[in-house]
Amino acid sequence: MGTIAITGAGSGIGAATTTRLRADGHTVIGVDLKNAEVEVDLGTEAGRSEAIERIAELSGGVLNGLVPCAGISGLPGRPASLLVSVNYFGSVRLLEGLRPLLAAGAPSAAVAISSNSTTCQPGYSMDLVNACLLGDEEAARAVADQGDSINAYPATKNALAKWVRRNAITPEWAGAGITLNAIAPGMIATPMVQEGYDDPTIRPGMEMFASSIPMGGAGDPEQIAGLLAFLLGPDARFFCGSVIFCDGGTDATFRTNDWPALWNPQG
Ligand SMILES: NC(=O)c1ccc[n+]([C@@H]2O[C@H](COP(=O)([O-])OP(=O)(O)OC[C@H]3O[C@@H](n4cnc5c(N)ncnc54)[C@H](O)[C@@H]3O)[C@@H](O)[C@H]2O)c1
Repeated sequence: MGTIAITGAGSGIGAATTTRLRADGHTVIGVDLKNAEVEVDLGTEAGRSEAIERIAELSGGVLNGLVPCAGISGLPGRPASLLVSVNYFGSVRLLEGLRPLLAAGAPSAAVAISSNSTTCQPGYSMDLVNACLLGDEEAARAVADQGDSINAYPATKNALAKWVRRNAITPEWAGAGITLNAIAPGMIATPMVQEGYDDPTIRPGMEMFASSIPMGGAGDPEQIAGLLAFLLGPDARFFCGSVIFCDGGTDATFRTNDWPALWNPQG
């Protein structure tokens, strides 16, 4: 049994994962805007620093797992820059800041939450993906605000998946005994999805998306919690830099023959 930090622990996937891991006997340190052991705003550098400090205190400096799950969706009127700060930098800064604690707890695991919107939502900006990966938050926020938050969402999640793949294989992660992976859930029935259904301009697209899921509709947060429990556990020690889709078949429907893709070493 170990100590695992989860952001976004107050709702949806984060809450279901907290419940699952506590039932499995783990100690969970929850982080969220409210209703959590550590209440901070991960959209700000001050909130991220406070989260890292408090997790270090509460864990005694040793973590066996980390799930940076806090995130927000694109909605009309919501600034795209907010998604950059919460979804991308709110996850990456905690992964970086808590990596020494995971190294102290190795063998240990971190799992970031990407999304199947990375492959199933067409037309978003790769400029924003690349701006996030460059690591300058203010510059990435400026790129994001040239567009809307609905198109920023998959870009932030694509950048997060790429950050995971780049870092997972390094001495600091794999070499330190920390497995680092991402999951890409499809539509999961949480308050985030309900927020989309409640918006009359988004609802038709959500209904179309839901009706195209081969497994018959949205998944449950408990199904994602089960996947995360596995990826954090001892049977998943050979996963490294994987982006694991769990989406009821949406990606396989929209992009049937796109994966596996041929490796082109020339780039
Ligand atoms: N539900 C889906 O269909 C789906 C699909 C793919 C990926 N995801 C991702 O899964 C993660 C969890 O989503 P969910 O559906 O459970 O959503 P949710 O809205 O139920 O939960 C998200 C949690 O993150 C917290 N949060 C938001 N902004 C924060 C901030 N600035 N600081 C601290 N905490 C903050 C919220 O308070 C909330 O408790 C997100 O990263 C989301 O992008 C969700």
